[in-house]
Amino acid sequence: MKCKLLIFAVLAGSIIFISCDSSREQASDAKDFPNVSEAKIDSLINLMTLDEKLVLIHAGSSFTSGGIPRLNIPELVKSDGPHGVRHEDGRGWAALDDADDEATYLPVVICLASTWNKDLGYEYGVVLGNEAKERGKHVLLGPGINIIRSPLNGRNFEYLSEDPFLTGVMAVGYVKGLQEQGVAACPKHFAANNQETDRHNIDVLVSKRALHEIYFPAFRAVVQDGGAWSIMGAYNKINGQYTTHHEYLNNVVLKGEWGFDGAVISDWGSVKDTREALLYGTDIEMGTELLRDFNNPEYDEFYLARPAKEMIESGEIDESYVDDKVRRVLRLLQRTTAMGEHGPGKRNVEEHQQLALEVAREGIVLLKNDGLLPLDKREIKTLAVIGHNATRLFAERGGSSQVNALYEITPLEGIKNLLGDDVEVMYAEGYEPYYDESLFRGEGGDAASQSTENRQEVELARSANKGLMDEAVALAEKADAVIFVGGWIHGHEGMPWGEGTYDAEARDKLNLKLIFGQEELIRKINSVNDRAAVVLMGGSNVEMNNWLPDTPAYLHAWYPGMEGGRAIAEILFGEINPSGKLPMTFADSHEEYPSHSIGEFPGDGTVDYAEDIYVGYRYFDTHEKQVAFPFGFGLSYTSFAFSDLKVTHRDDKVVVQCTVTNTGDRDGAEVAQVYIHPKNPSVDRPVRELKGFEKVELAPGASATVTIELDKTAFKFYHPEELKWVLESGSYEVQVGNSSRDIELREEVML
Ligand code: GLC
Repeated sequence: MKCKLLIFAVLAGSIIFISCDSSREQASDAKDFPNVSEAKIDSLINLMTLDEKLVLIHAGSSFTSGGIPRLNIPELVKSDGPHGVRHEDGRGWAALDDADDEATYLPVVICLASTWNKDLGYEYGVVLGNEAKERGKHVLLGPGINIIRSPLNGRNFEYLSEDPFLTGVMAVGYVKGLQEQGVAACPKHFAANNQETDRHNIDVLVSKRALHEIYFPAFRAVVQDGGAWSIMGAYNKINGQYTTHHEYLNNVVLKGEWGFDGAVISDWGSVKDTREALLYGTDIEMGTELLRDFNNPEYDEFYLARPAKEMIESGEIDESYVDDKVRRVLRLLQRTTAMGEHGPGKRNVEEHQQLALEVAREGIVLLKNDGLLPLDKREIKTLAVIGHNATRLFAERGGSSQVNALYEITPLEGIKNLLGDDVEVMYAEGYEPYYDESLFRGEGGDAASQSTENRQEVELARSANKGLMDEAVALAEKADAVIFVGGWIHGHEGMPWGEGTYDAEARDKLNLKLIFGQEELIRKINSVNDRAAVVLMGGSNVEMNNWLPDTPAYLHAWYPGMEGGRAIAEILFGEINPSGKLPMTFADSHEEYPSHSIGEFPGDGTVDYAEDIYVGYRYFDTHEKQVAFPFGFGLSYTSFAFSDLKVTHRDDKVVVQCTVTNTGDRDGAEVAQVYIHPKNPSVDRPVRELKGFEKVELAPGASATVTIELDKTAFKFYHPEELKWVLESGSYEVQVGNSSRDIELREEVML
């Protein structure tokens, strides 16, 4: 049963919403799927030779594994990525030129998280499941659900939040929507893969409490509530052992405590040891560092190929370890369209593009508005659109999550389409990106040394940008209003993988400073025109102190997908009322984040998560630190009030009920966020933790009663010494508000 908002009664203009908050009620038990037959699996295993079993557990091309024609077992076909089905590469690594592989390019997953809309999470998965199925893929390598520990991680755009609960709830919907089409989700990367620097070897030093309270919960949710059929291991180590074959992670927690019955798929090249992979839970080895010739791979070189065969045949390791892997792989094949019947898929259909638009409309976050927005096109004769990102395309970059988008509406196109001939729209690029080696970390994590040649190129680029800036400022001066579109990019076309990338896989940023001279450009625009709105793209925040105070309005658009330009225009001109809420804290600079001020980032060989459980608002709120914009924050063109909080016990649940009222003059949506504050815990705990939320849409003057049920797990903590989950009796405060800092209602409850 997909849990939607159930409308029970419309009484005198108030609508009563009941929602089952923890996605437990939504769980569709994966074992219910009709195609899995354990008996058939047993008989197939009995028919297989050892060689055939090993074929099933390692790659046979860039994205396929297995395939035993003698037994009618097909290959398992995987594809990236988390926000769209990647271009076709056949069985190699380069995109096939003439492939029919255009696809729906959805807003990136952090934009989905910013909607705080569970139904959109599910619909997002439905779209991806249909497109992957239509392309003949059995496993979609997503969603990325690693916690945003530092704002510098180049892959933050592929993840959801600094908070494990929000990540889990949104990812569960995605997984269920995807798998109901017969395509396996592969939530990644298990676990604590929170940086790109030295990702293949970095050893994360982290407490069991922080693992269980911060880095595990979203994985537990997608397994136990979402029924994920596969999980992807990570490249990094945790406390000395590689995560892809980590005894505690895979055998004790994932397959033991959580009862995961699917397959652990390695990240590409994340298997480093045959014995450990056999014993500690790797079920399919994809990619390998062992290849002598990347372009002419001999798959027998894989750790789980000949070396594994030798270990089994010598008797060093029992064949039953291989049988368990084969069982899980066959279960995965049977659940998906590989061996199960799930009907046809569809790709590039209008309903998919509509969903992309909905997610962008609800995920873009209005962070500042002095009253400039929404712009009224009747009051504007000339509009200056300034900024390289107003015309840049993003889909094909970012790393493995790249998509060959069927189309991508840029902000400039979206604005022009919306305004038609009513307004004269003028464009100036304002700045041209350039490859500046000093912007990047080298493999070791420190600032890369900048070659003389590159320094000269950068100087040339900067002087060229002076000209572009002057043109843009002149345009801004004579326009009635200005829209600046800037922020990050995924890196430079034509650069080898990893090089020249930021806000992309394989690289972390050095800091949050706006690049390519954008700060100065924004300041100059503000100095000549007091009606300038700033729109930024990017997978996390940027430093704002040098430009935001004099900027009347600021929208954070993440990477809003193929319909993003249209959604940006609709919000700027008031056709859509924004309702996005930050899924991560925006602080003034990266040094403010606990992963930098208390813990290490990016470390050197090892990285110490010394901040422990105090990640994101858990740190900023507990230590009452000033932040630019708090977790859960987002503005609207209307206003809302919270009232009538009631907290009661019903069976073994705590029921939180409150009223949300639209006190403004236009339709809008608000997110009621429920935090738990332990009054006098026996161990140190964060001042508050998000444990429930519900988004409600309301007409002007209307009210809604929101009911959120919390089960007891919402009050538990993982005991740092006893190393188990504990529910402590005592007094707790239930807090309801529309950000972690804007608590509107409080009520005490005794447990
Ligand atoms: C990459 C990424 C992973 C991706 C895989 C296949 O290295 O870490 O997210 O799915 O390899 O491209």
